[in-house]
Amino acid sequence: MNKLLCGVAFAAILTTGVRADDVEVLHWWTSGGEAAAVQVLKGDLESKSVGWVDMAVAGGGGEAAMTTLRARVTAGDPPTAAQMLGMDVRQWAEEGLLGNLDAVATAEGWDAVVPPAVQAFGKYDGHWVAAPVNMHRPHWVWANAKLFADNGLSMPSNWDEFFAAADKLKEAGVIPVAMGGQPWQEATAWEAVILSISPELYQKAIIEADAEALASPEIAQSFDIMRKLRGYVDDNFAGRDWNLATQMVIKGEAGMQIMGDWAKGEISAAGLTPGVDILCDVVPGTQGSFLFNTDFFAMFDVGDDKTAAQQSLASSVMSPVFQETFNLTKGSIPARTDVPGDKFDACAQKSMADLAEATDAGHLYGSLAHGHGQPAAIQRAYLDVVTQHFNSDMSSADAQAALIDAVAAAKM
Ligand code: GAL
Repeated sequence: MNKLLCGVAFAAILTTGVRADDVEVLHWWTSGGEAAAVQVLKGDLESKSVGWVDMAVAGGGGEAAMTTLRARVTAGDPPTAAQMLGMDVRQWAEEGLLGNLDAVATAEGWDAVVPPAVQAFGKYDGHWVAAPVNMHRPHWVWANAKLFADNGLSMPSNWDEFFAAADKLKEAGVIPVAMGGQPWQEATAWEAVILSISPELYQKAIIEADAEALASPEIAQSFDIMRKLRGYVDDNFAGRDWNLATQMVIKGEAGMQIMGDWAKGEISAAGLTPGVDILCDVVPGTQGSFLFNTDFFAMFDVGDDKTAAQQSLASSVMSPVFQETFNLTKGSIPARTDVPGDKFDACAQKSMADLAEATDAGHLYGSLAHGHGQPAAIQRAYLDVVTQHFNSDMSSADAQAALIDAVAAAKM
């Protein structure tokens, strides 16, 4: 059986038994912290008599989930709703396959409370097509507080301090930097490095995919920093999931991890307090800027009998109370500006304050690694080169040349 047919048969089995007032939701939230957040959403819907049929596709960053979604839609069997990142929302909307959420959005006043940068992805052609559940920030450093205290370390505010801390941790016999080895994880670190060099470089080289910026010496410098970072990562990182890397920091096997604030979901699920047991700060050199990624729920046309359940899902996702409860578990901050921050931990409160500051300064950007920087095909070009460089002894000059070519080819 070919792959597609296999997918069709699989999907048919999975969708059997979905009732009219059920929603089948495709998502990739399968780590401990993510699954806990799914339970919050599921519980909220069940309290409104909407049943949840789970279509979880494991794989951080959602690449596998998006492949499954494409196969389901191609087979004529889309799920009721799917989690997706901003550029995917745009792409499915362009294909004319997403349901219109204007009725709920207007009744509930989404326009007034969702930041414009998020609206830019949740709306297509002036119409709401996806409900935003959060704002994640991918450029954080998480550090084991006990290891830092025992070794007289504080959170680094530039790369020299970061690597000096890494040297101390190495001398102390722990893995300095926990990394997972998957393209999106390496790209999460690389985009933060680009931002640390300058926000203008991020704007030009990533958001605009500008050929001149990609040819600038700063891009070679970004690969130099990645090469240095690689020297502090253990040899078993290839293929490691992000949450296992977070666990290494939680358990004190590793000192630091560069990862988005979904890591906070794991920290809380382990009964630890973010900002206390596991320290947080933005990646050195990125204070003042804010990369974001938002998880959206978009609805597919699966028949009129599903519309009420789909609207309940959209309305649940956007309720202020739900956004507070969900994001407390997920590690992100709400996608609404009117949710009070007092119940959130110190890292989330920092995120809220930094978001406001970066927005005012014009330094709020979509994350490339997490589907808000470039459409999937161009994003793939960046990720391929970044991962190839990190997993070989490729020089910075060769990586830069490969990046210039790959991005140019993907843009054609
Ligand atoms: C991101 C997503 C987050 C988190 C992470 C790891 O792309 O926005 O919600 O789940 O992937 O899976």
